[in-house]
Amino acid sequence: SPIFVLNGPNLNRLGTREPEVYGRTSLADIERLCRETAEDIGFELEFRQTNFEGMLVDWIQEAGDLAQGMIINPAAYTHTSVAIRDAITTADIPTIEVHLTNIFARDAFRHHSFVSPVAYGVICGFGATGYRLAIEALSEVIRA
Ligand code: DQA
Repeated sequence: SPIFVLNGPNLNRLGTREPEVYGRTSLADIERLCRETAEDIGFELEFRQTNFEGMLVDWIQEAGDLAQGMIINPAAYTHTSVAIRDAITTADIPTIEVHLTNIFARDAFRHHSFVSPVAYGVICGFGATGYRLAIEALSEVIRA
């Protein structure tokens, strides 16, 4: 069964969005990196992005039904969404929260995550590399 990599709002704009904060790497570049990493490990990969909170809830539920693990960058919903947190709790599969930036080095309102308490682990501040690290970490969690 696959692993899901889910991306939240505005991440479709990576590459051109606030490049001084997020760099020049596009979401297509991140997807390519995830595909290479997943292939090396032998994971089937489902990679998606949406700007809609309810769509993320639907996809997290789907991951709970079909996936062996999940990586999620909930983007701004990290800091606002009880619905996404509850969906992750209910999905009951190992879930790694990823952020491109170090959210603790940014605005105070980014320091709190509704998701972190229900994530297996959190990776932030390493840019696109964080997605690769998350897939590698997930493979260890799943195989353990
Ligand atoms: C982000 C950090 C969030 O605070 C922000 O709202 C994002 C991206 C990151 O990957 O660094 O959209 O999740």
